[in-house]
Amino acid sequence: MIRILIADDIKETREVIKKILDMEDGFLVVGEAQNGEEVLKLIPKVKPDVILMDINMPIINGLEATERITREYPNIIVIIMSVQGESEYLRKAMFYGAKEYIIKPFNYEQLIETIKATYERYKDLNKMIEKEKNAKIITLFSTKGGVGKTTLATNLAVLFSQGKKVLLLDLDLQFGDIAVLINGLNYKTIMEAINDDLESFSSIKQYLYSFNENLDVLFAPKSPEEAEFIGKESIERLLDVLKKHYDLLIIDTGVNFSDNTLFVLDSADYIFFTSNMDIASLKNAKTGLNVMKSLGYDSKKVKLIINRFNTKYGVSLRDIEETFKENFFKVVEDDEEAVIISINKGQPIASNPKYKKSKILKSLEDITKSIEI
Ligand SMILES: Nc1ncnc2c1ncn2[C@@H]1O[C@H](COP(=O)(O)OP(=O)(O)OP(=O)(O)O)[C@@H](O)[C@H]1O
Ligand SMILES: [Mg+2]
Repeated sequence: MIRILIADDIKETREVIKKILDMEDGFLVVGEAQNGEEVLKLIPKVKPDVILMDINMPIINGLEATERITREYPNIIVIIMSVQGESEYLRKAMFYGAKEYIIKPFNYEQLIETIKATYERYKDLNKMIEKEKNAKIITLFSTKGGVGKTTLATNLAVLFSQGKKVLLLDLDLQFGDIAVLINGLNYKTIMEAINDDLESFSSIKQYLYSFNENLDVLFAPKSPEEAEFIGKESIERLLDVLKKHYDLLIIDTGVNFSDNTLFVLDSADYIFFTSNMDIASLKNAKTGLNVMKSLGYDSKKVKLIINRFNTKYGVSLRDIEETFKENFFKVVEDDEEAVIISINKGQPIASNPKYKKSKILKSLEDITKSIEI
């Protein structure tokens, strides 16, 4: 059923059009308006697919209304009804985003045909207009290297992408290795992206690697010396655009408190602070968590994940909980075989059926289930 709103200041015209449309199967007249102001008020109430819009109307005319509608409701198809000799106005209306026009006086067939054809032409396009998103950000961080940030970032991204649109961003700018973990051969990197137009998603998109339908990845530069060319301003602009197109950004970082790292810690909704179970790592984590506190981060934002959890290492879950209190979040099982085979095959644990029932996968799934995105 095509829902149609008729906008014309002449009552008789509206009535004639309504009569014609009422006789036609598949059409439903959902409202009538005498001017542009009424149209704008009616839209949220009657939710039209198509608006038949006269140009000359009082208060807000058809041109202004068209401009506002196509900006605020890009899904609505505006068809202009114009009289002979209004070509300048008509040109403007099309410029403002009207999809089609019909010249008055028109007959029954012309009207029906124009609405049907225009609706058919644009209905699929409308499905493609995405609603603007506002992604949550999870930043992986640790004070000690090699504790599993990249392993966690990659596998969590794969798991979250079963239902959410996810972007995995490798901001370990010097030594980022996500490309290895997911076999991103012949890949483009953030280095190329920041040298292009950072304001537009269609430009950034060409530098993303599509892991699956819901997961895109932006890789770190290929050589460490490129890192210094990527500043905080570029990252800020990049995140602004990316946030609008994903439900979740997962950001992997290197081990440092650089400007870039601080910026993505600040921007994060959640910081997954990663540690292992050895005392050196735990001690470093404690210090790092204190730094987080002094930066003013809430304990709800900073979540400690103990990676490579194994009871045989002489530290119990209880010890960890007592030491880290409200910062403690989850443990991820120690499973060298699964992790190393995954790295060497370039296939994350989370997308390898072999590990479907593994404890490590269960612990990763527990994390994704415990976070509201
Ligand atoms: N849950 C786990 N079980 C067993 N081994 C693991 C686990 N997680 C990580 N590892 C091991 O730790 C190594 C380092 O992991 P990863 O590269 O993810 O750490 P990182 O914190 O990103 O390191 P870097 O600081 O160098 O970026 C892996 O190569 C793997 O051998
Ligand atoms: Mg890493």
